Amino acid sequence: MTTILGTRLPLIQGALAQISTPALVSAVSEAGGLGVLTTVGMTPTDLAAAIAAVRAATDAPFGVNLMLQQDNIADLVPALIAAPVPVVTTSAGTPKRFCAALHAVGTKVVAVIPSVKVAQKMAALGVDALVAEGMESGGHIGTETTFSLVQQVAAAVDCPVFAAGGIADAAGVAAATALGAYGVQVGTAFLLATETPIAPAYKQAVIAAPDTGTVVTGRALGDAVRSLRNPLTTAYLEAEAAGATPAALHALVDGSLARAIQGDVDHGTLMAGQIAGKLTVELPAAAIVARLYPNA
Ligand SMILES: Cc1cc2nc3c(=O)[nH]c(=O)nc-3n(C[C@H](O)[C@H](O)[C@H](O)COP(=O)(O)O)c2cc1C
Repeated sequence: MTTILGTRLPLIQGALAQISTPALVSAVSEAGGLGVLTTVGMTPTDLAAAIAAVRAATDAPFGVNLMLQQDNIADLVPALIAAPVPVVTTSAGTPKRFCAALHAVGTKVVAVIPSVKVAQKMAALGVDALVAEGMESGGHIGTETTFSLVQQVAAAVDCPVFAAGGIADAAGVAAATALGAYGVQVGTAFLLATETPIAPAYKQAVIAAPDTGTVVTGRALGDAVRSLRNPLTTAYLEAEAAGATPAALHALVDGSLARAIQGDVDHGTLMAGQIAGKLTVELPAAAIVARLYPNA
């Protein structure tokens, strides 16, 4: 039996900017989920190399993520139409301009959405599935909780809905299913995969985080981001409260995910979701998949 995305399990590994590189993606796909490549900062040549690396490691379906605020989207979309991949996931915008072109080359399109209104717009475009992403999630977030959002989106659209935000194991999958989700998208739990290229200090910070260990920055910049509380987020929130200019706020956070990935846990943005408090150990991606679907 296969799922609507051609995978064995109804599981999407959410794209992780600069982190979901071929080793993680191929491991998740090989384990029965949909591994999804990040394209943040990539040229079409980089992307072709990453896709080739995934294909060399697995025959299973995989996806490529387009975070539509990226400034390289105009370069990457033609590359994905010229050399199609099984699935493209989109976030932070609408795939309207290229949805038909991707479908024409046989690529499935999955849109990450933060509200019922946006879900309905994307469903009307004919996307193959939606990811309803709650504000518990790590990274760039909307305003609604997974619990409330998923059941309202599932009731409002005809296409399959994957739930994202706060899901790390079989309990989360069962809850998402009860809310009407077809499957789940998981991000934070995969940060702790042995296959991710992040520094041990970032992983240890995720493991050490309590339930209340994340904060949201960037609201004043119109771009809310959830990450682990650290000296950078404290400095950022103080500057925001003191009325710092957008330029000054940008100066604090621009490039800060890369610093986190390199292990600077004081000056980096350690993107992670609220479920970090439940995560206690680094594991191979296949073991994380097995925790989500123990009976598969
Ligand atoms: C470190 C990190 C980076 C992320 N980068 C992206 C990204 O580039 N594109 C995207 O669509 N979502 C991104 N996300 C969101 C995830 O794909 C996923 O939807 C989210 O993590 C699900 O919630 P969870 O963190 O509670 O599992 C990111 C999340 C994290 C934690």
